[in-house]
Formats: sequence, structure tokens, C-alpha cells
Amino acid sequence: MSVQHVSLAQPFTDQKPGTSGLRKSSRQFETPHYLESFIEAALQVIPGVAGGTLVVGGDGRYGNRRAIEVICRMAAGHGIARVVTTTGGILSTPAASHLIRSRQAIGGIILSASHNPGGPDGDFGVKVNGANGGPAPESITDAIYAQTLQLESYRIANPSAPLDLNSPGEQRVGDLVVEVIDGVDDYVALMQRLFDFDAIGELLRSDFPMAFDAMHAVTGPYATRIFEGLLGAPAGTVRNGIPLEDFGGGHPDPNLTYAHELAALLLGGEGYRFGAACDGDGDRNMILGQGCFVNPSDSLAVLTANATLAPGYADGLAGVARSMPTSAAADVVAQALGIPCFETPTGWKFFGNLLDAGRITLCGEESFGTGSNHIREKDGLWAVLFWLQILAKRREPVSRIMAEHWSRFGRHYYSRHDYEAIPSEAAHGLYNRMKEMLPSLVGQPFAGRSIATADDFAYTDPVDGSLTSGQGLRLLLDEGSRVVMRLSGTGTQGATLRVYLESYVPSSGDLQQDPQAALGDLINAIDVLAEIKQRTGMERPTVIT
Ligand code: G1P
Ligand code: ZN
Repeated sequence: MSVQHVSLAQPFTDQKPGTSGLRKSSRQFETPHYLESFIEAALQVIPGVAGGTLVVGGDGRYGNRRAIEVICRMAAGHGIARVVTTTGGILSTPAASHLIRSRQAIGGIILSASHNPGGPDGDFGVKVNGANGGPAPESITDAIYAQTLQLESYRIANPSAPLDLNSPGEQRVGDLVVEVIDGVDDYVALMQRLFDFDAIGELLRSDFPMAFDAMHAVTGPYATRIFEGLLGAPAGTVRNGIPLEDFGGGHPDPNLTYAHELAALLLGGEGYRFGAACDGDGDRNMILGQGCFVNPSDSLAVLTANATLAPGYADGLAGVARSMPTSAAADVVAQALGIPCFETPTGWKFFGNLLDAGRITLCGEESFGTGSNHIREKDGLWAVLFWLQILAKRREPVSRIMAEHWSRFGRHYYSRHDYEAIPSEAAHGLYNRMKEMLPSLVGQPFAGRSIATADDFAYTDPVDGSLTSGQGLRLLLDEGSRVVMRLSGTGTQGATLRVYLESYVPSSGDLQQDPQAALGDLINAIDVLAEIKQRTGMERPTVIT
């Protein structure tokens, strides 16, 4: 094998990874040497490269196969002993996390821009995960970025025969072994250890029509094998189950806006009892019942309250964690169960430390992410199976499970309003103005209540003591309601403003209101205070969840 040292005319300066890796347009990734620069930096920084095993795969979007080829050649150039990849290069983020752990790999490189659209005009992304299977910590991503800024060249093995990703087997690139495996097998076996497939199968083979929307993305093959194969659900249960390079032109984000076809099936009286969808790389989930949308904050709370119904969690939970913008529904359950509940900044990596230290078993975010200590990423299909496990045991409609939950714990009315693709200057202007105003807001009236605390969320990691600040502006009202504002760290066009609204009604209150109505006064008050319409020029949010 011959290794080439390719010189860069000048280093790239825009390769700072965000919350979920380096995410840019597909076009940007096609710029000569762009992908290679980032991979070189990563391979220089990740510990254990010489002689190590690396897991590589992605969500099947445009650019996936080319990237796997490039990474294998660069891995060979850096003395990696083995790359484990999958047929078609198809590997969901949760399955990658599991594979890294079970193969004791030094880490993984996952090719995905998650729920962002794909294709030549869409987005591409590279995520670096560590040996624990979770997103690399900031110390690593900062070091990778620093490397990219001073890179003069990269090392890559000259092309030999093109990689064959069509069927399982071993190939060599110089001294590197490229092992192609079926990406679904190991993940399915893990799910079978956590959940009672006999009970779920019985449910799905009874009169229980279910619709699962894979959104033409990575979960198609996994869901087909699990639901229609092992669990015996009728053919057609999995919709849009073939991964496509451009996700069929769709936006593979499982929410009420982008998964509207599925939402219409469940909310429009078609007779389906259960519906679910996952995102591009399979780590997000949306759960629907007949005539009922389960908001992700509530979903985490319901899983926490019912966890012992699943064999994998029968012994109870060590604790739970939620990201700060996620509603406090899980907190109330944790308190009733007498287990700790942690509030972390947005992004999965903060859960990793708590999971590694055994402080929590379940965790989740309002952004359709839920997971547990079985891996170190959020896991879409795991959440769907967990819900099916609960339904198989309780044999009640989703809507009744929700109603019973609220009548026991009270209800956290909750909504997220996203204003997407705002010109960056307007968004930062709005945000910085609010940030500067924070100290003067304490004690001020707001939506007929009074602001008790106004701060920019900061987090001290209880495991390693590290401090993370600047994580979102919070207005906490005297009676427990709150409004949170953040700027997205994952968008690729302009800036995205997220406004999170939450109001708690105890079990004795009105538990059956429409969330937008229940939160109406908070919505109006934050618009006036932050001048949202005026400064964004947008009459309404792009996405309401
Ligand atoms: C979004 C979500 C966040 C999630 C991240 C990665 O980040 O809000 O909860 O962890 O995607 O899936 P944001 O765009 O808000 O920075
Ligand atoms: Zn994702």
C-alpha cells in the first residue's frame, strides 16, 4: 500500500463541530479536501488510532458511500487496524453507539446531518464518537477544530480496488482490515434483551393497527426487521422504509410539521392505534396514539413512571436526566419514585457522563430524543419499542395512559416555537438584547405573573465538575411557569430561534386544554418582550411542537 501526503494550499477555517459534529451543506463537503481535512484532524486527535478499531457508517444520505471510502483510505494511512462498517454503509446512530461499545472500538465516525434534508442540495455531516459510544466530549471536538486550523496536509492510502459494501465480508486496504457486517443484527439482539418481544408481538398481531414512518431514512431496514419480521406486524406497517440518498425530497424530522402524513393518520380518525416515526439517523422518535400526540417531555415522564414494565428496567432506575429546555414532567415522576433527576444543557453529550457514572438510567430531551444506559446516544426505535412494551402490558389506549399520568402527576403544558432561517444578525440582535435585559427583568410583571428568576443557564457537571455556561435564557415565573430562549446549534441556514413555553397545572386543575391555548398568555408576553415578530419579520413560527 502506498500512502500519499496531500498538501493543503491553506487550512479550512470553518470546521468547528457544533452540538452534533460538523454539519454543512453537501456542496461544502464536496469542496476538494474538505472532508479529508476534518477526518485528518480527527484521526490526529482521537486516542488509540494506531492498531485500533474504528466503527464507520451513516444514515445513507448523499455522500455516505464516498465518505466511507475516504475514511477507510485515511484510516489505512494512519495505521488503524480495523474498520467495522455495514452493508450499504447503513448504520443508525444508536446502532453505531452500540457497535462501538460491543467491539471495544476506539470510537466511531458517523456520517449524518441527523434530521436535516439530504441530497446534493441538502446537508451532510460528520460526527465523531468516543470509546464509550457517545458523542466526543468538547475537549476532543475543540482539539479537532484546533488541528483543522493549522493543518498543512493529510495522509491517505492510494485507491486500490473500490470498497464493496454490498455484502458482509472482509477486505483489505493495505494493512487495514475493512469488515463489512449487517448493521441491523447486533442492534436487534440488544433490543431483544431489553424488551419482551413475545408480549409486544402478541399485541401487534392482535387488532392493533400501527403505522411506523421511517421517512425514507436509516431506520427503514431496522424497523422492517423488527416490526414486520420478528414481531409479526402486517406488511405495510413500516412506511417509507427504503433509505434514499435524498430521503425522497423530505425533511426527515419526526415532528407534527415534517411527519404530517403520519400525524394525519393518527390524529385524523383513520383507526390506527399507534404511530411512530424516527429521524434521518434514527436517534429521534415521535409517538402518537389514536387522536393523541405525546409530547417528548411527557414521553420521558411516562417511560420513567412505567419503566419496570420492561424486562431491561425491571429492577428500577438509578435516576433520570432531562435537558434544561425539556419540561419538568420527568422531575415530578422522579420525585414520586424517590430517584434523582438532573437538568443538563441541550445535547446528548451531557447525559454521557451521568450514564457512565451510573447516576441515571433514562434521559431525554424535548426535541424528540429519549434514551437509556443501553448505549450513549438517544435511540428512536428503542423509545418506540418501550412504548409498545407499556401498551402490551397495560392494554390501554395511548390517550388513556396520558390522561391517567396527568391525573396522578399533574400536567406540564408545553410547546416549542421555532423560527427558522432568520438572518443571523437579526437573530443575534434579538438574543443579545434579551440577554442584556435579564438582570432588569427580575420582579417585573409578565403574562399576569411576575418574573422570579431571569438567567442564562449554566451547568456544573456533577461527575467531573466542569462548567458549561451560556446555555439558554430562562425566565422563571413566580408560580412555576417558564419561558426559555435559545439559538440552535445545529441549523445550517441563517439562525434558528427556539422559544420553549411551559406551564404546570396540578392534577386538580384543567388537564384537557389545547397546549397553545393553555400557553397563550406566555406566547404573547414573550413576543412583546423579545420583539420576536418585529425583529424576525415572521408572523408565526416555522414549526410549532
Ligand atoms: C437540536 C435539539 C437538541 C438536540 C440536537 C441534536 O439542537 O434542540 O435537543 O440535542 O438538535 O439532535 P439545537 O438545534 O437546538 O441546537
Ligand atoms: Zn438525529
